[in-house]
Amino acid sequence: MNYSILAHNASYVPPVHKPNPTFLTQVTEQGMRDLLSRFYACLDKSAIRNIFPAIDGKEMEEAAQTSADFFIQICGGPAYFNQRHGMPKMRQRHAPFSITAEGRLHWLICFEEALHPLESSVNEEDLQSFWNYINIFSIMMINR
Ligand code: HEM
Repeated sequence: MNYSILAHNASYVPPVHKPNPTFLTQVTEQGMRDLLSRFYACLDKSAIRNIFPAIDGKEMEEAAQTSADFFIQICGGPAYFNQRHGMPKMRQRHAPFSITAEGRLHWLICFEEALHPLESSVNEEDLQSFWNYINIFSIMMINR
């Protein structure tokens, strides 16, 4: 696996490709929910904790499950995010939060940590496709 992080260059964002649908087939919906729980537990202890409005661990877990709705959908599963929260419009939804290039690094490092336990059960090419997606898409969330 190559967890390298693409340097942020404000004038160029490479094309984004959705993760392979076979990533979700292997991880399963519950596995995706567990992945986002691990990820948010890491964010809860991270240097960017202050940008999350959640007041406690319970609210962080709720945010994790909202994100899981999105990631299940983007990986080819049921459209939970659209059904429960409306159109993704991710840049617009992130606009109120101060997301810097440095914040993105903390965000991706937490994702890498949360992905490690999947390495033994998920095909490397599929895991790589997920990493490539968040690596690029996260550049577009930088707004400060
Ligand atoms: C660049 C690093 C990123 C940071 C620092 C960041 C930070 C945040 C913050 C602060 C929230 C609000 C949480 C809340 O309302 O409790 C949020 C929500 C969310 N983020 Fe990110 N985000 C990043 C990138 C991404 C990326 C790349 C995706 C998807 C590919 C994503 C998907 C989501 C989703 C689905 C939500 C929930 C939106 C909602 O509640 O309606 N984020 N993020």
